[in-house]
Amino acid sequence: MNFSLVSGDASRLKGEVLVLPLFESDLSDRRKAPDALLRADRKLKGLLVKSARAEGFRGKSDQLFAMHTQGRVAAGKVILVGLGERAKFEPEVLRLAAGKAVKAANKMRAKSAVFWLPTTRDFQQCVKAAVEGLSLGAYRFERYRTTNKEERAAPRVERVQLLLPPGQEKDQAVQQAVELGQRVAEATNWARDLVNEPAAALTPARLAEEARQAAEAAELKISVGGRKEIESLKMGLFLGVSQGSGQEPKLIHLSYTPKDPDAAKLPPLALVGKAITFDSGGLSLKTADSMVDMKTDMAGAAAVLGAMRVVGALKPPFPVHALMGACENMPSGTAYRPGDVLTSRLGKTVEVTNTDAEGRLVLADMLAYACELKPSAIVDVATLTGACIIALGHFIAGAFGEDDQVVWSLIEAARAAGEEVWRMPVSQLQKEALRSEVADLKNSGERWGAAINAALFLKEFVGETPWVHLDIAGPSQSPKERGYLNKGATGIGVRTLVELIRRRSDAVEGPEAPEPEPKMKPAGKKATRAAARGA
Ligand code: BES
Ligand code: MN
Ligand code: ZN
Repeated sequence: MNFSLVSGDASRLKGEVLVLPLFESDLSDRRKAPDALLRADRKLKGLLVKSARAEGFRGKSDQLFAMHTQGRVAAGKVILVGLGERAKFEPEVLRLAAGKAVKAANKMRAKSAVFWLPTTRDFQQCVKAAVEGLSLGAYRFERYRTTNKEERAAPRVERVQLLLPPGQEKDQAVQQAVELGQRVAEATNWARDLVNEPAAALTPARLAEEARQAAEAAELKISVGGRKEIESLKMGLFLGVSQGSGQEPKLIHLSYTPKDPDAAKLPPLALVGKAITFDSGGLSLKTADSMVDMKTDMAGAAAVLGAMRVVGALKPPFPVHALMGACENMPSGTAYRPGDVLTSRLGKTVEVTNTDAEGRLVLADMLAYACELKPSAIVDVATLTGACIIALGHFIAGAFGEDDQVVWSLIEAARAAGEEVWRMPVSQLQKEALRSEVADLKNSGERWGAAINAALFLKEFVGETPWVHLDIAGPSQSPKERGYLNKGATGIGVRTLVELIRRRSDAVEGPEAPEPEPKMKPAGKKATRAAARGA
């Protein structure tokens, strides 16, 4: 999608559709109505507002109203999309509305659109949100469809003119917001493709190949190891999980190093992504129903890889590493068995009590390996537990960790990026759940608090390194169409990780432009230069 920045009279700008996002108060009180709406309405002899009202459009956040302009306005159609109450507004509301509007414009077969941006607080964040909402909302995965060719060949919105208040179209910060929004959306749609791709196509080797291409495009270093390398690194947990599959496991390691030699010496940020390309459960086989969506079990890796694509452009003033242990979890004559004892890279031994608790095993070896890089913090992103879906549903990710500063900074970044994350406990009260009779640990305990047990297991492998574990089992897939989401992969995590890295960059360099205070206060102290160095 191509964006250009313009200013001027909304009713005179040519485009197939004109999108006007409106607050409830814009319609209820004519004195509060924005100029863009008034001008279009005047040219339509008052019929725009009148018809919208007659159709029940009140500017509520899930509402949309579309109308032909019969040539009275330069744009062929007007789409009004609701933003709800102004007092409750945040950029995510605009992101969702933009996604909804672009879906409607695509159904109208429009190729070009004018998107008017309402004046709001956090204007740059809103510009970024609008660009993301438009690009994410236009996403579809139809590589495997052969029917309905006509529908698929139909025109889509390709060009968008962002209509800004006068002067803003030349503002550098606004231009940067557009560019970042485009990069983030492109990376998110790419992550969605990886998740939506069937497991037969997206094997560990193919994931490694995709990572290689992404690394080249983003000018990052990459190394990919096969079984031999994984063996020589003594990653016994990773090897155990992968041994039932005919697909060779791949250890994928991307790294970004800043050009400035001083910055290159700072402790890195380490990202770890769960990369099970298919999770059958192994010998502790899943049911037919619960296996259907298990190509999604590499969504954590997709998020990490998506974020790394943006890191190349963001150029943070500290190194960033991404680690993924990619493999399938399959039952077979060579599969690991319940009762097997595996030795991790860290040296700790694990009794396998359930082969379906495979994610934590692979992650444990990746986390231990990440710690060897002496990072300032580790963030892991994983579709780890069904229990987290039970707890938080399909729209909210769980954040686990004991370092308040790192956990809250991630939650704040998620909030700013429009991804919902809720803090979950890593409670020692449940430690017995992982006690084994034969080994240092077992990999699965009772079902109560199973998302916490998984986090407790991971914790055994990070030592003192500040660490956050993001369980995205729920929001990795959207069960319904909503705003900029379609059914299927969401690409969750990309926006949060990018925003986190952007904020950590600001903490080291000082922000380029003063940002308004976030709504939610962190429990810990603010990130500082010292914190970024890991002090
Ligand atoms: N990949 C699953 C978790 C999952 C479930 C992700 C649904 C996305 C949607 C994970 O490997 C798993 O099987 N977890 C088990 C753990 C249990 C055996 C301790 C679970 O949550 O049931
Ligand atoms: Mn599993
Ligand atoms: Zn899994």
